[in-house]
Amino acid sequence: MKKAIILIALLIPLTNFAQDKLIQNIYARNYQTLNGSWQYIVDPFDNGYYDYRLNENPNGFFKNKKAQSKTDLVEYNFDTSPLMVIPSDWNTRDAKLFFYEGSVWFKKDFTYSPKKGFKTYVYFGAVNYDAKVYLNGEKVGEHIGGFTPFNIDITEKVKEGNNFIVVRVNNERHPEGVPTINADWWNYGGITREVMLVDVPEVFIRDYTIRLEKGKYNKIKGKVLLNKAVAGQNIAINIPELKISDAASTDENGFVTFSINAKPELWSPENPKLYDVILSYNGEEINDQIGFRQIETRGKEILLNGEKIFLRGISIHEEAPFRHGRAWSTDDDKVLLGWAKELGCNFVRLAHYPHNEHMVREAEKMGIMVWSEIPVYWTIHWENPGTYANAQTQLDDMINRDKNRCAITVWSIANETPHSDARDQFLTRLAEYARKKDDSRLISMAMEVTGQSKNLSKVEDNMNKYVDIISFNSYLGWYGGSIEDIKTRNWEIPYDKPFFVSEFGAGALQGKHSDGTEIWSEEYQARLYEETLKMFDKVEGFSGTSPWILVDFHSPRRLLNNIQDYYNRKGIISDNGIKKEAFYVLQKFYQQKENEFK
Ligand code: GCU
Repeated sequence: MKKAIILIALLIPLTNFAQDKLIQNIYARNYQTLNGSWQYIVDPFDNGYYDYRLNENPNGFFKNKKAQSKTDLVEYNFDTSPLMVIPSDWNTRDAKLFFYEGSVWFKKDFTYSPKKGFKTYVYFGAVNYDAKVYLNGEKVGEHIGGFTPFNIDITEKVKEGNNFIVVRVNNERHPEGVPTINADWWNYGGITREVMLVDVPEVFIRDYTIRLEKGKYNKIKGKVLLNKAVAGQNIAINIPELKISDAASTDENGFVTFSINAKPELWSPENPKLYDVILSYNGEEINDQIGFRQIETRGKEILLNGEKIFLRGISIHEEAPFRHGRAWSTDDDKVLLGWAKELGCNFVRLAHYPHNEHMVREAEKMGIMVWSEIPVYWTIHWENPGTYANAQTQLDDMINRDKNRCAITVWSIANETPHSDARDQFLTRLAEYARKKDDSRLISMAMEVTGQSKNLSKVEDNMNKYVDIISFNSYLGWYGGSIEDIKTRNWEIPYDKPFFVSEFGAGALQGKHSDGTEIWSEEYQARLYEETLKMFDKVEGFSGTSPWILVDFHSPRRLLNNIQDYYNRKGIISDNGIKKEAFYVLQKFYQQKENEFK
């Protein structure tokens, strides 16, 4: 009987258990950081979670037990365990853990003074991949998914004075996971983004959306939702620079909408104008910096604020320059976005998962539009309900966190997924969910080139009806074909929509040179860029590109020693920050494009 129970338990899909709804704009709230040193215990056999019969142990490591006498057997001790600075990935913080996939326990002591009439949440920017959170020895929440934030109500559990928080992080890959077990990026494990204790009033503004009404330039629409269904609550909105000061009362759901006449200066890459917006209720003032713009398509054109634009992009993984671990801070992000700006970019594709919130906010300040994506990548288990629930939750959390970030112009629901009815159904559901949740942005996904003959390439995908931009990855001259083939290649993209080349590129080891005919040399990569850009620039509807990729990044699939050494070398900047020749080829092309659109 027991075996059957264990078997059924193992079949339960890995989905998000009950978690509290996301608090909008967490950095504007009253918070205490838990960043800094945490003790950690590496637990490859999950000895801290299961007993020797694989039952969940009620006295696991989350109890943070101490030996009470000389004969008291306690086979773990956080107090004598090593420290790790959080946020971080354990792979680059402890050499023994570079390749590690499994469980690591983290513990931090903190003192706290709960405020009367306030609620307390613990907020995680991201934990990769499976997080179980305990406070003072009791489980308070859990979360699946390595790149989206979550917050847990700990009001009833946090104490006056000394507390301790324990997090069990497991970064093992799962076939039914999102992403699945195969991906071309390092499976960095850990508490990879910021941790905060957040105080909010008993009844508070949990969520809001503020943007231009779709298709209009003289009407600002605001939606505000309280954490409780309380009617008659007076919510105030102020946008001082627009001389807007409005107030309205919530309905029986704790919900209120604003519709305000205003003609704000429009946000654009040339003028990344942001307005201070202040929402007030119940003693809490929430400040946000919000830009106003319209993004849409018309036939084969992409329009920003009604003007045709070309997306001068680059793809970026969330990997910190120089130290190579997971990027998480504004400093990390400014280096990456600074290189994108130097390249002449007005667009970045944040691959293949939602990046940290600072990255999106910095891009917005710098006038860089953003493609944000969930890791529905390659061979996802399309027929598993738990997989779909996980993907939709990650999509929901991605949109909830960043829906007030005008820099985000594209929500992407997938990358390079194999065609099948099940995949079409799965992605159609996701696309419709995204469109219903946010009709103010473009929906896309990175498709694949479907047909190649001697000198013709095609892109045909059933999902064409559900996306606003036909985006696809093309590796002609790298994964098949030669640079000569690029020169004679024609394209068939049979849809009356703009097309966007979400990836092209070639590997190059920085400092390796040739006459341009040898792969892995900078010159080969540069020639491929030159010919590929020339090729697509001739095709009607070419509306932009985000070549693969800004910086070399760690990948467990790139094993050619002395060339790759566990790095994907398609960066146009090396992993130690040195620009390759292709950087200047792309920079020159973008200069020409910028002049064309002036
Ligand atoms: C694919 C994939 C990337 C990968 C790249 C490559 O297009 O989307 O994640 O890194 O190709 O092979 O380098």
